[in-house]
Amino acid sequence: MKGALPSVYITREFPGDGIARLQKHFDVTLNKGGRVLSTGALKRAVKDSDAIVSLLTDTIDAEVMDAAGPQLKLIANYAVGFDNIDLLAAKQRGIFVTNTPGVLTESVAEHTFALLMAVALRIVEADKFVRRNKYKQWEPDLFLGMQLRGKTLGLIGLGRIGAGVARMAQAFDMKTIYYDEIRHKDLEKEFGVEYHQFETVLKQADVISLHVPLTPKTKHLIGAAELKAMKSNAIIINTARGAVIDEAALVHALATKEIWGAGLDVFEHEPKINHQLQKMNNVVLTPHIGSATAEARDMMSQIVADNCVAVFDTGKPLNPAA
Ligand code: GLV
Ligand code: GLV
Repeated sequence: MKGALPSVYITREFPGDGIARLQKHFDVTLNKGGRVLSTGALKRAVKDSDAIVSLLTDTIDAEVMDAAGPQLKLIANYAVGFDNIDLLAAKQRGIFVTNTPGVLTESVAEHTFALLMAVALRIVEADKFVRRNKYKQWEPDLFLGMQLRGKTLGLIGLGRIGAGVARMAQAFDMKTIYYDEIRHKDLEKEFGVEYHQFETVLKQADVISLHVPLTPKTKHLIGAAELKAMKSNAIIINTARGAVIDEAALVHALATKEIWGAGLDVFEHEPKINHQLQKMNNVVLTPHIGSATAEARDMMSQIVADNCVAVFDTGKPLNPAA
């Protein structure tokens, strides 16, 4: 604590009134200007902070925690994912870590469907075609796409976001199957989804959509063998974390037509994008904007503030990352 109020370091500005609320309760220091801090700058900046509000672009490891000092009590991540934070190191130091679950579910599920429809119906390619004045006459086979009705959607992960996608798929009359580490019998009933082994989902689905967090276990969950197991007309959608897919293997599978297309909001080495992906017509790429609706980003902002207040008022986080 630097002054009378606990100090909170915010690594970058974000929308919503969370920051204004934090400023009422805490001694807030904000990294203005929108630049991601280098590790060195981050370590210097967090010194003596009681709490750090981080973004998914900040790597918060043991070194950063130790640079803050032993008073550090909370790392509140402005994201639902928290693979950017070393949870074990935080636990060992008695530091709470919180995330923003629930409030971005709909946005990410909607973005998943947006990517799926854009790939299946070739929207981006067709848009470019029109803009380049290539539309000369109606053609019976111009931009033939894939109808979703009757197709099988394979969800890898049926957490909140996966379930949101399953619910939307009902409206498209898709058959939905899923694999998860845990069975969700309630959701199977509610959304008419079927549980299958991972390999079966890969083999049977026309569309594979990933909804798992990035952990050592899910890194490269989809690699060369998994891509080979998919149908040749399969579309893969990733709105989770880039490294869940072995990106080099994906590029190869797309280039050799092992699968039909991909919709990617996240990348293994983002913000670096594989140049081959950028040249492919059968992929649609967005810059990690799955949760980027005004509604979701607003509520994420609230949750960050709520967690900071709760930890310093009651000693208990509302949304502990686990
Ligand atoms: C976005 O990717 C998030 O984890 O919130
Ligand atoms: C993500 O799993 C969410 O909170 O919706």
